[in-house]
Amino acid sequence: MTACGGGDKSASTPAADSTTATAPAPTDTTPAATVASASTANGEEIYGRCMACHQATGAGMPGAFPPLAGSEWVTGPSSRPIAILLHGLQGEITVKGEKYNSMMMAYGTNVPMSDDEVAAVLTYVRSSFGNSAPAVTPAEVAKVRAATASRTTPMTQKDLEALQ
Ligand code: HEC
Repeated sequence: MTACGGGDKSASTPAADSTTATAPAPTDTTPAATVASASTANGEEIYGRCMACHQATGAGMPGAFPPLAGSEWVTGPSSRPIAILLHGLQGEITVKGEKYNSMMMAYGTNVPMSDDEVAAVLTYVRSSFGNSAPAVTPAEVAKVRAATASRTTPMTQKDLEALQ
């Protein structure tokens, strides 16, 4: 179940284009109803808030901070990492076969982070460190924020697994 085998579907370079956010084509008028616009915040810059724990390489720290590189929670359904940022995470969680049992604070409530910022940082994380999962849109974040609005405690692994 390794998520980062590489070389299967795309033979392209991993995440080479995520460093400079080249502006999208200005003439491309996207119908808002079907295609949600991409985030405009700078995900790489926001990742500076995550780096102290998850490290610049996304490798985390063994026994303390789980890796984002190759993490099934990062690259799986986007609702899961979105919920982690909005509500925090606590208790035992297995990441790449290793167990962690700690606590991460919420970014959506205690430390205000807009839908746009959550989308940007997750898009960055999902396309960096060898990860190649699809971008996260602000609309996806808004949806999870609304669906979990009544939540007052951090997420747990079990809660995450219930999200699709
Ligand atoms: C103060 C340290 C700290 C900071 C800062 C932090 N995290 Fe975490 N993060 C943790 C810990 C600890 C866990 C595991 C919590 C547990 O054991 O339940 C975790 C778990 C996660 C997970 C799920 C497990 C995994 O490795 O995939 C994701 C995704 C994640 N963090 C993303 C982020 C992002 C994105 C940011 C920045 C916006 C961030 N974290 C900032 C400490 C931190």
